[in-house]
Amino acid sequence: MKKIAVIGSGTMGSGIAQVAATAGCSVKLYDTNQEALSRSKGSLENTLSKLVEKGKIDDAEKSRILNATSYVTTLQDLSDSDLVIEAIVENLDVKRKVFSELETLVSAETVLASNTSSLSIASIAASCQKPERVIGIHFFNPAPLMQLVEVIPAVQTSAEVLQKTTQTISDWKKVVAVAKDTPGFIVNRVARPFYSEALRVYEEGYADFATIDWSMKTIGGFRMGPFELMDFIGHDVNYTVTETVFTSFYFDPRYKPSFTQKRLTEAGFLGRKSGRGFYNYSEEMPQPTE
Ligand code: NAI
Repeated sequence: MKKIAVIGSGTMGSGIAQVAATAGCSVKLYDTNQEALSRSKGSLENTLSKLVEKGKIDDAEKSRILNATSYVTTLQDLSDSDLVIEAIVENLDVKRKVFSELETLVSAETVLASNTSSLSIASIAASCQKPERVIGIHFFNPAPLMQLVEVIPAVQTSAEVLQKTTQTISDWKKVVAVAKDTPGFIVNRVARPFYSEALRVYEEGYADFATIDWSMKTIGGFRMGPFELMDFIGHDVNYTVTETVFTSFYFDPRYKPSFTQKRLTEAGFLGRKSGRGFYNYSEEMPQPTE
């Protein structure tokens, strides 16, 4: 699959587009928000310039990747794609609507994938006339750097679509883990307690979040502490994923979401992407915000 479309040019969509273009595919990036498309374009140019400065790619490779990526503003523009990867807001109804509309525009062979972190692939597939062409392809953040990609066939997904998808993602030099279509798949389910217990320790007043981050990095050997990581992922995304896993597991208290995180999301303190989360990113060095 060489003609790739990505829906949603935010954190994940931009990264996935970069991965596909770097691997030699032509990529169309679509977003309903023109500003998001412009930001994504600027960010790809910056990233590639930095890679040139570091000697990781040359100018010719930078131009090739930029020329392989185009930015489009209607779904119709994606009609000739072999594979479409959706990376929009983590909301089942919105995703289902996009998939059912998309299916009327693409060819019968086009594979339709979702980068959802936690939603049911079966339910997304059920919004399509040909649910056997729908699959989950879950990249991790930042997509260009993280090796692992979970590939999630729904009960409806055909063996051929699974095979084509795993082949494509392996061709993109990623490591594929085929996961079952259960809430949070493998990594997001295992990772829930990392965030939730850290939030509980903080909410119960046993330690402030900077100390928890420091402990996990210095003593625990993690590259990022849980609060830094939630700020990096985005609290809107991280909270919604916890909420989905919690409700999908019949309100198992192990996955109970946090009010602190809910309030941050409501306030628009989404983390790095909005300039403030647990830390303040308008300073040169991230500062705790309380
Ligand atoms: P984001 O908020 O950075 O970007 C979402 C983009 O989708 C925005 O630019 C928005 O304008 C666009 N959008 C929203 N509705 C749309 C529609 N109907 N049609 C076209 N574009 C639309 O979100 P992010 O973080 O990139 O997440 C996207 C998906 O990837 C979510 O399903 C999330 O759960 C998943 N994900 C997120 C990770 C993360 O660390 N942020 C990691 C792995 C998966």
